[in-house]
Amino acid sequence: AIEKTISIIKPDAVAKNVIGEIYSRFEKAGLKIVAAKMKQLSKEDAEGFYAVHKERPFFGDLVAFMTSGPVMIQVLEGENAVLKNRELMGATNPKEAAAGTIRADFAESIDANAVHGSDSLENAAIEIAYFFKPEDVVSR
Ligand code: CMP
Repeated sequence: AIEKTISIIKPDAVAKNVIGEIYSRFEKAGLKIVAAKMKQLSKEDAEGFYAVHKERPFFGDLVAFMTSGPVMIQVLEGENAVLKNRELMGATNPKEAAAGTIRADFAESIDANAVHGSDSLENAAIEIAYFFKPEDVVSR
């Protein structure tokens, strides 16, 4: 089915100037960008977005990293978009990410891991609504 999912290019990858290279991977995989914005997340933005991880030991470091510089946030649309984006990203820990994935190619560590993607269709809807108004997501 045609799905929508959230992708966030994290501060490390924005700083490396590889937004375009990452966008290319989405486009070559048949995913369309149907909304996008660059944003400097506040502490509140990052804490709210990652609220499910609040009790995890890495939460403080995660929020600090995600607010360390601007991020590029996009909604991707396409057939099986949630899983397709996760396959393009590779494993959360770049040391475990398959060759040719975004994290294998651009990420340095489990914290500075280049990209975030929604892990389910249900969370995709929640994450899209967190950053975009319905009218800011186009149909194309
Ligand atoms: P992300 O997909 O953005 O979701 C939560 C982030 O927490 C994850 O990517 C990692 O960058 C970061 N993180 C740090 N340590 C861990 C860990 N042990 N397990 C999962 N995520 C972690």
